[in-house]
Amino acid sequence: MRVLVLGASGYVGSAVAEQLTDAGHQVVELVRPGRSGQAEQAGGRERRIGDLTDPGSLTASVTPDIDALVHLASPTGDAATDAAAVDALTAPLRGTGRAFVYTSGVWVLGATGAATADETAATDPIPIVANRPDIERRVLATGADGVRASVVRPGIVHGRGGGIPALLVELARKHGAPRIVGDEGVRWPAVHVDDLADLFVKVVGQALAGTVWHGVSEPAVPVRELAAAAGQAAGVQAEPEVWPLAEAAAELGASFAEALALDQSVSGDAAREQLGWRPQAPDAVTDLRSGSYRARS
Ligand SMILES: NC(=O)c1ccc[n+]([C@@H]2O[C@H](COP(=O)([O-])OP(=O)(O)OC[C@H]3O[C@@H](n4cnc5c(N)ncnc54)[C@H](OP(=O)(O)O)[C@@H]3O)[C@@H](O)[C@H]2O)c1
Repeated sequence: MRVLVLGASGYVGSAVAEQLTDAGHQVVELVRPGRSGQAEQAGGRERRIGDLTDPGSLTASVTPDIDALVHLASPTGDAATDAAAVDALTAPLRGTGRAFVYTSGVWVLGATGAATADETAATDPIPIVANRPDIERRVLATGADGVRASVVRPGIVHGRGGGIPALLVELARKHGAPRIVGDEGVRWPAVHVDDLADLFVKVVGQALAGTVWHGVSEPAVPVRELAAAAGQAAGVQAEPEVWPLAEAAAELGASFAEALALDQSVSGDAAREQLGWRPQAPDAVTDLRSGSYRARS
């Protein structure tokens, strides 16, 4: 398939573009105006110019030769702009059965409490992702209009020394002790970026219209363990310390700090059972303690 990827220069998007290519698909990257390469061939990949803030550029990039579209660009933060972008991207796909995969995230579920949330759980978004359930609904509704639309909600992504776990390493180094935002008992659903990329390949190839998938291989990793491992990666001896939410908010911003303090348990079993997804990469604690983060320190 010829797959248009938005966000192919990003942390998750670059891994997805790589694995789509490895699986035999032809990746076309959508890049923002002014970014390197523009419309030239880059590493064998065709590039098209577009921006989430310019709906016309998005619709124009979805030409009839594009078989599937994966939206891995970061949201702009403006609800109307992000909704208009989805409408512009899906307009050319209506009535064609072509695939559209939208990337959301597990933060739309809010705090899960003792239960483990699967894809049937109601959304209860925290402020940083307040408009995402509406976008998810918008995307899924196109399924009734001939788009093979689906939503992937990744957990906290780790691997290749990047993502939020890299921030834990940075914080440990900066403060001289690993930091746990908010509460010692917080748990994060996690997934390795390579396993997540494999899930995207499966969703592009197999998912039915109107489906939601949790990109989560570990439902509830204690952040205390992640922080301790981040401290080891940073070469810091001190034990993890709880960082009061207000103090973390002052340094990281209120909505991001609140997200880091979110306690969740989330299941990714549906993708294993229905798409044959088999996560194989190291778990998040091992990755931090002795894997890709260690290599960076
Ligand atoms: N990382 C995680 O742990 C995680 C967890 C759950 C969900 N997610 C979601 O996954 C998606 C990708 O996350 P990420 O961590 O890979 O982000 P990232 O590394 O920041 O990459 C963002 C990508 O979006 C592109 N982009 C940003 N603004 C754009 C715009 N206005 N128009 C077109 N492209 C634009 C960037 O292109 P430039 O090179 O031009 O900046 C970049 O390729 C996001 O929706 C994020 O919320 C991530």
